[in-house]
Amino acid sequence: MLWVGTSWKMNHNLPETKKYLNILIKNSKYLSNPKIKFFIIPPFTSLALFNKYKKKLPFIYGAQNMHWEEKGAFTGEVSASMLKSCGCQIVEIGHAERIKYFNENLIHMNKKINLALKYNLIPLVCIGEAKYEKNILKRKKFLNKQIEILLKKIRNRKKQIILAYEPIWAIGGGNKAANIDYCNESIHYIRESALKRLNKVSVLYGGSVNEKNYTKFIESKFIDGIFIGRAALDAKNFIKICKGINKQ
Ligand code: PGA
Repeated sequence: MLWVGTSWKMNHNLPETKKYLNILIKNSKYLSNPKIKFFIIPPFTSLALFNKYKKKLPFIYGAQNMHWEEKGAFTGEVSASMLKSCGCQIVEIGHAERIKYFNENLIHMNKKINLALKYNLIPLVCIGEAKYEKNILKRKKFLNKQIEILLKKIRNRKKQIILAYEPIWAIGGGNKAANIDYCNESIHYIRESALKRLNKVSVLYGGSVNEKNYTKFIESKFIDGIFIGRAALDAKNFIKICKGINKQ
């Protein structure tokens, strides 16, 4: 199964969400392929609207974060059960920006993964090194450390978990995507390491993926899909990429 999706991060208010959804609905033939799972991760405020249009959407959607406790006095937080009630099927956990700006850590992320699985939400867990690391041994050591904590005592090893390899140095404006050999090396290792702790895993690449460079990631036999940021903020551009992937 190939996974192709995007997180809008903190973009698109309700009227903008509506416009985006209308474009997706008009182009839904490019988003329904039995071999490809498309997904969209909008802000929390758009989720009820996604839920309203759910029957017309051929893709799955989810949230950019959730709390690790089921409910309670956690002002400003959103629970797994709230996400389920908006029709979410997937939840992003531990994006680099959450770690950088909101003090999220690997222990929180591990708790969130377990809770997401309990609620039948697919955890899409972000991992990756902060600096370009040419030395594969050093890179493996770093990635392994992350995986060890993230996947500690996963209660339901058989459920779908997605790891998104997002080297931090490749994410966001002014940065370039990782080159394909570097990316293949890391992803091959991430899969090996994750499979010691899980029965199955999908590993995606994210970080400056766009309409010009996505094909090499899709074609790689090591990579199970792509996770797009800026390049999919424009619905038409997202559709352009999805259309291209359908043809491959
Ligand atoms: P970008 O974001 O494609 O804008 O680099 C990717 C991500 O943060 O997942």
